[in-house]
Amino acid sequence: MTDSTQFWSVVPAAGVGKRMQADRPKQYLEVSGKTVLEHTLTRLLQAEVFTSVAVAISTDDPFWPRLAVAGQAGIVRAAGGKERADSVLSALGAIRAQASDDDWVLVHDAARPCITVSDIALLIDSLKNDAVGGILALSSHDTLKNVEGRNIVGTLDRAHIWRALTPQMFRYGLLKQALEQTQGNPAVTDEASAVELMGLQPKIVEGRPDNIKVTRPEDLALAQFYLEQQQ
Ligand code: C5P
Repeated sequence: MTDSTQFWSVVPAAGVGKRMQADRPKQYLEVSGKTVLEHTLTRLLQAEVFTSVAVAISTDDPFWPRLAVAGQAGIVRAAGGKERADSVLSALGAIRAQASDDDWVLVHDAARPCITVSDIALLIDSLKNDAVGGILALSSHDTLKNVEGRNIVGTLDRAHIWRALTPQMFRYGLLKQALEQTQGNPAVTDEASAVELMGLQPKIVEGRPDNIKVTRPEDLALAQFYLEQQQ
């Protein structure tokens, strides 16, 4: 890493969050006095490492312009895409003019509002001199089953199983190339899987278990609990 290497954050926030069964996308639900997305962006800004945070928002999204954070310095809006990877590529395009291929990009889910500044710093410190990059992850405490229909057809070796969290940290050029090459591939559910398909092996950095993704209605209460605990 050179002194001129910049850090960027990309936040895909163009999902509809069907599993939440709410009247609006889950990133706009309120928890502890702010929307999920405002908590997420506030934490990223508090890290004070990013040149900009590029947020991918659906073009017809009526909620975004109402958020105070939308007009904040350091926030760049990009158009959302059909899939998460399309949204990330669109956000990368929005910072193209200022970013260089060797800069680091930390992609973070809009729906993970409990990310801490300390986990962002840990990820960056662990990987800033790495050749490939990597992700925050959690080891699995549960035994995991391979299931077909409702039948268990195998048990996975837990020693080798980690749950992928975000942020996921890759160099701008590599990330863009990996996402472009794998566009439309249903196996690509995060940035690391696109990089893996290039034959590379991203690293894992053990993150905090409170970095949950708000997915189901009950996750909101849990997010509120963690946000208050972290104060
Ligand atoms: O649905 P899921 O929780 O897996 O989405 C992960 C993240 O990707 C969310 O922050 C969501 O808003 C974002 N996303 C997106 N564009 C899409 C689909 C999902 O930005 N087309």
